[in-house]
Amino acid sequence: MNPRIAQTSVPVIDPLAHRWSPRAFDVEHTFPEGALRGAFEAARWAPSANNTQPWRFILARRGTETFAKIEAALLGFNQQWAGAAGALVVNIAVTADAEGKPLPWAEYDLGQAVAHFSVQAQADGFHVHQMGGFDRAAISEAFGLTEPQHPISITAIGAIGEADQLPEALREREVAPRVRADLEDLFIVRD
Ligand SMILES: Cc1cc2nc3c(=O)[nH]c(=O)nc-3n(C[C@H](O)[C@H](O)[C@H](O)COP(=O)(O)O)c2cc1C
Repeated sequence: MNPRIAQTSVPVIDPLAHRWSPRAFDVEHTFPEGALRGAFEAARWAPSANNTQPWRFILARRGTETFAKIEAALLGFNQQWAGAAGALVVNIAVTADAEGKPLPWAEYDLGQAVAHFSVQAQADGFHVHQMGGFDRAAISEAFGLTEPQHPISITAIGAIGEADQLPEALREREVAPRVRADLEDLFIVRD
């Protein structure tokens, strides 16, 4: 049994069961123009508070200057693996509308958009790995992001590679069984 597939008490749809976050990406794999359109369409059609759609993205395919700028802002061990991904996406929450009125659900909405993105990407045959470990100020500076644009996470996306290509400390984690809290423990009330 593949230890990376989610073990669920009842079946869930395939892209969810098979989604997991690899660190070994195939460094030979590249995205032709348009290959990520489905994933971005899924993000675009995510629900949001009042349909405000408070999300923006920076897409960089490997080999571009944009990709290098994003990679340079990654922190710690993210620097060791994410550069092999076919693309990096900066996920940006826009926390106020054009009149300056706060959009309090902007980060929540962005998270849903990224979740939709990741499920569609999985269904399209890719893998994604989200990262919070990056220098937000460096990203804002590199791309001229200003209030109310907040870079919240970076998604690495690509084709899966081999665990062997990773440094040893990451290799073990790549093949370890995935774990979650028990379903019963998630409910504060279940009536
Ligand atoms: C908001 C967020 C931030 C994350 N930050 C990092 C990160 O900086 N580096 C990393 O290797 N993984 C990061 N992850 C990946 C999680 O560690 C991973 O999703 C979690 O361990 C569950 O594993 P799975 O996605 O394979 O089910 C992040 C995930 C999310 C959603």
